[in-house]
Amino acid sequence: MSLRTLESLGSLSGKRVIVRCDLNVPLQDGVITDDGRVRASLATLNALINQGARVIVVSHLGRPDGKPDAKHSLAPVAQRLSELLGKPVAFARDTVGVSAAEAVDALENGDVAVLENLRFNAGETSKDDAVRGAFAAELAALGDAMVSDGFGVVHRKQASVYDLAQLLPSAAGLLIAAELKVLDRLTETPERPYTVVLGGSKVSDKLGVIGHLLPRVDNLLIGGGMLFTFLAAQGHKVGSSLLEPDQIPQVLEYLKTAAELGVTIGIPTDVVVASKFGADADYMVTPAHAIEDTPYGASGIGLDIGPVTAAAFAEAIRGSNTVFWNGPMGVFELVPFAAGTRAVAEALTEVDGLSVVGGGDSAAAVRQLGFTDEQFGHISTGGGASLEFLEGKKLPGWEVRGWSSRVPRSSRVTGK
Ligand code: 3PG
Repeated sequence: MSLRTLESLGSLSGKRVIVRCDLNVPLQDGVITDDGRVRASLATLNALINQGARVIVVSHLGRPDGKPDAKHSLAPVAQRLSELLGKPVAFARDTVGVSAAEAVDALENGDVAVLENLRFNAGETSKDDAVRGAFAAELAALGDAMVSDGFGVVHRKQASVYDLAQLLPSAAGLLIAAELKVLDRLTETPERPYTVVLGGSKVSDKLGVIGHLLPRVDNLLIGGGMLFTFLAAQGHKVGSSLLEPDQIPQVLEYLKTAAELGVTIGIPTDVVVASKFGADADYMVTPAHAIEDTPYGASGIGLDIGPVTAAAFAEAIRGSNTVFWNGPMGVFELVPFAAGTRAVAEALTEVDGLSVVGGGDSAAAVRQLGFTDEQFGHISTGGGASLEFLEGKKLPGWEVRGWSSRVPRSSRVTGK
């Protein structure tokens, strides 16, 4: 897919350029625990600074309810950005209004300001086109051009992502261009064998992508909380593990389709079961069909894939030429339940072809477990966005008039 690039905007020297980033980083007590998304935004910001643009950074953080909420302030992010850019970054206490206008007016060529969390304004996420449009118009008044570089949010039809790009001369930033280059390889010409590893909690979030990927991959490996819905579909009892019973019929349908297509769906054969949710729980490894036969009975809760499964997944991953991974295999934040996620991450670092880690949670997981970005082919900044891209959905962030020469081609079935 080709996108309208920064160059198409002409000289930006002295121009007020609004850059829509995705600086939605994990925070603990106001401290950023993974600054990957801030670092990923630097290429575009530096390119604009070097051109002498007056750079206005906008982003969301978390899901505040359309009104100010101190724990979702972008202030710590502005601070981190200043450290990474090695220059002062101004911070405005609102996205629009007097403080935003003052911060923008004070910018000299090459200066940077971060405006407060877009989602402190109900207009940002409104489903009402007019309300969203009015907020986008207020934003547009602050700039002369707009650069869309928040890959993680391109799947949201929100004012700063979709409407704003139509009100100002706009183009895609370098991060979006880099993300697309890799994701296009996954959808258009994946080298076989192609393995997709899906984890995370909810199977309902992943059903669309599973259905779409089945005819396109060789192996689909299932971990995380959603594995228990697969086990239940196989007729096993899962104790108090996460379960979405209403998704079982669809899962059964997919298992049937996979068998017809000759695609391997990797469902764990062993799991780590705990007495309760928590780092201080008792836990043990058990065959996946015997979760309720442990001493914890029906209150046993599965929190990770087991070692036999982890080894099998690792072997399938290492034997693949293309691997996409989204979603942790277990509750990796708690040491006793991190081994499955670690094994999958380790195997991805050993892939000879293209390995892609997709998404905020998985990216945070690999970094928290001590891996470096360079050990992987690509760490995408977009979780939901990369999944929706793989699913072949139209993404509002680049469905902007005149931006892309074509829509995602992931709807094309590639031959095996
Ligand atoms: C993400 O973390 O996936 C993006 O920042 C989008 O956030 P959202 O799911 O709250 O829209």
